[in-house]
Amino acid sequence: MDFANLPMDLKEIKLFNVGILIVATLVVAKILSSLFMSGSKKNLPPVVKAWPLLGGLARFMKGPIIMLREEYPKLGSVFTVNLVNKKITFFIGPEVSSHFFKAPETDLSQQEVYQFNVPTFGPGVVFDVDYSVRQEQFRFFTESLRVTKLKGYVEQMVSEAEDYFSKWGESGEVDLKYELEHLIILTASRCLLGQEVRDQLFDDVSALFHDLDAGMLPISVIFPYLPIPAHRRRDHARKKLAQIFARIIASRKQTGKCENDMLQCFIDSKYKDGRPTTELEVTGLLIAALFAGQHTSSITSVWTGAYLLKNKQFLSGVVDEQKNLMKKHGGKIDHDILSEMDTLHRCIKEALRLHPPLIMLLRSSHTDFDVTTKEGKEYHIPKGHIVATSPAFANRLPHIYKNPDSYDPDRFGPDREEDKAAGAFSYISFGGGRHGCLGEPFAYLQIKAIWSHLLRNFEFELVSPFPEIDWNAMVVGVKGNVMVRYKRRKLVPGDDL
Ligand code: HEM
Repeated sequence: MDFANLPMDLKEIKLFNVGILIVATLVVAKILSSLFMSGSKKNLPPVVKAWPLLGGLARFMKGPIIMLREEYPKLGSVFTVNLVNKKITFFIGPEVSSHFFKAPETDLSQQEVYQFNVPTFGPGVVFDVDYSVRQEQFRFFTESLRVTKLKGYVEQMVSEAEDYFSKWGESGEVDLKYELEHLIILTASRCLLGQEVRDQLFDDVSALFHDLDAGMLPISVIFPYLPIPAHRRRDHARKKLAQIFARIIASRKQTGKCENDMLQCFIDSKYKDGRPTTELEVTGLLIAALFAGQHTSSITSVWTGAYLLKNKQFLSGVVDEQKNLMKKHGGKIDHDILSEMDTLHRCIKEALRLHPPLIMLLRSSHTDFDVTTKEGKEYHIPKGHIVATSPAFANRLPHIYKNPDSYDPDRFGPDREEDKAAGAFSYISFGGGRHGCLGEPFAYLQIKAIWSHLLRNFEFELVSPFPEIDWNAMVVGVKGNVMVRYKRRKLVPGDDL
């Protein structure tokens, strides 16, 4: 436009029009941008209120469950907490968590968020390898935990329990937590790591496991390689264990000795391309199995005992069940007989509902996705968020479980089935979906083998106050001692309690 050749009043009109156009464009742009902005903001989940920068982290570190208890009533089932440069978005309840459990690895992955396990499990296994290799390694786990294998493991569990408790006196007082922890390390070692390691447990090996364990601190989750003494001891223990396993594997291969344990399954496992597992991989996978299954099972067996001793009506229910099974099968205990112990199963399951040892499950999101809450609110979750769910919190939702804080194993009975009524992912102590626990049957068999033996051979009384939760542990467990008084008895069918 050539303004110079226009008469003065026309120039003014044109200028005025251009001005109007510019202003109008700016206004429209502003309206559009604010519409667009408010649209995307509206769809993002609500954010936990906290002081800028470190506020979110501080609230999270005070205790994730405390934060969830405070925020869920205010913000609902999907919300985000800002942790410095990361956003964690929580999905609480079966209505919103199905994507969490079912999404493929390309959408939600474990590798980044569970990296802190790598120095403990070692190189070349689980979270140190690509998903395709990890999937194959999980296949090795699945195969080593098949029913045919479990049947053999049960024989070992039963004989370890008999042997362990034969050392107790006629009567006495013990710390149930200490006793069950020790028995479970023995049975887990025997079934998973092999008789050779189990026999060395009371020598150097138990100290090495202790160091490996003590190297997994809350700080290790963020800084797994921080040069602190606990990490140095962890690394030393890891190396020593690798040497011990290398010797055992070599000797099994040399002698052709074949055992029924997870170690043997891993030695015999082959990748799809025909490659056998290396000694380092076998060691790493066994350590991973021990970490997945040892504390989780021993904590659950302690809670089960504490609740049974506190709630006499449930105690008599499980004792009656033992009597009935003894009437049917005599004193024998095997895989199939343990599988008949439905009442005991429900008592363990309920202890585990109230006290899942893994209180938070995490994934890293690689794609945007949307979620709709049960109230019909839609949220958009951008890629890059860490997504989380919490068995400890979600297992106590009052719209799923009646009186959620009370111990009531009958809620799982055939007439109530509260965990099923609300749909999949209502009970998540073992996770679920794509990465559901592979050791669940093993864990139940182990805990049942122990409690079945205890119920048949001892009477108990809880001496210390009912235990509290130790929230500070990585695998959340029982705080302090759990003192019980015991007296030997021989349960016979027809006996009164
Ligand atoms: C009471 C005992 C146990 C509890 C409460 C428990 C809990 C869990 C949970 C919550 C997960 C899911 C983790 C996630 O989604 O991020 C999981 C996965 C797993 N558990 Fe267990 N577990 C127990 C015992 C065991 C035992 C005894 C073993 C093996 C002997 C085992 C092996 C595994 C494995 C291999 C996975 C990974 C599965 C995958 O990612 O595909 N667990 N467990």
